[in-house]
Amino acid sequence: MKRVLITGANGLLGQKLITELIEDYELLATARAPQPVLQSPTFLYRRLDIENYRACKAVIEDFRPEVIINAAAYTNVDGCEVEREACWRANVKGVENLVRAARNRMIQIIHISTDYIFDGTNGPYAEEQRPNPLCYYGKAKLASENVIKAAGLPYTIVRTSVVYGVGVAVKSNFFLWVYQRLRQDKPIRVVTDQYNTPTWVDDLAGGIHLILNRPFLGVIHISGPDFIDRYRMAVQIAQTFHFDPSRIIPITTDQLQQRASRPLKAGLKIEKAIQELGFRPKTLKESFEFLKASLSK
Ligand SMILES: NC(=O)c1ccc[n+]([C@@H]2O[C@H](COP(=O)([O-])OP(=O)(O)OC[C@H]3O[C@@H](n4cnc5c(N)ncnc54)[C@H](OP(=O)(O)O)[C@@H]3O)[C@@H](O)[C@H]2O)c1
Repeated sequence: MKRVLITGANGLLGQKLITELIEDYELLATARAPQPVLQSPTFLYRRLDIENYRACKAVIEDFRPEVIINAAAYTNVDGCEVEREACWRANVKGVENLVRAARNRMIQIIHISTDYIFDGTNGPYAEEQRPNPLCYYGKAKLASENVIKAAGLPYTIVRTSVVYGVGVAVKSNFFLWVYQRLRQDKPIRVVTDQYNTPTWVDDLAGGIHLILNRPFLGVIHISGPDFIDRYRMAVQIAQTFHFDPSRIIPITTDQLQQRASRPLKAGLKIEKAIQELGFRPKTLKESFEFLKASLSK
């Protein structure tokens, strides 16, 4: 079995990658915490902070992976705007460390990036369109793509958009925030003018599985099929779970005053993934039905 090292394995995507890949690959899951948050299935686990080059080197030399999937990142977009050094350390320096430690063995790197590298003037975007990030998070993620491209290693850059889903002790995501607030019948203010192609984490992990199987090298967009604004996404969540949609108050990005500028029409075109990988993501509606079934358990 091919050996695959996963970084950021306690995050939303990291956890889903473990359950998605465990049957077909020999996995080493790594994260900063002393223990994995997932208790089942059984898998190898080691502590790894990708900001520490020596630690990256030691883990890679011990496990000798054929592929590294980098799912570790500082993902709080507004946090990145304020804590710029911390954002750069995790999102760029960490990637430099992995690449440097992987170079001797020519290990393939699968790196996850974002539609926030685009400026949102004319999304959804295809792989070859010109990036122009508006916020620090987007700038750092674009810099990380450039590190990967310049490394001289076989690489895959997987760009994705507004990842949502459930996991063990995961940070909140847009779906969870809407679900939890509306379930408690609390009002939420949601923007009508930020468009993305929201991505169910299960589909993202499934897409990465297809990339590994192929294997596919280069840049590829893996996201959901719906190009939709946050307000309409929240309304669909309310409809699926029979929550009161009048608790969702439509506002504009100007009114919300987020710290980091957001690309308004972002989102990703996924034709390449459909054609080259046979990627078939669920619609928002279908994924919400799956989430409803799993949350009711
Ligand atoms: N979430 C989205 O909407 C979205 C959209 C587009 C692209 N992406 C990209 O998708 C990837 C996966 O994100 P996600 O949604 O799974 O986010 P997540 O749940 O925040 O997971 C990221 C994980 O990275 C870990 N991490 C941060 N710094 C680290 C370091 N120095 N060393 C090791 N681990 C570190 C975090 O662990 P700690 O708890 O220790 O901080 C966290 O568990 C990221 O590359 C992200 O940029 C996400």
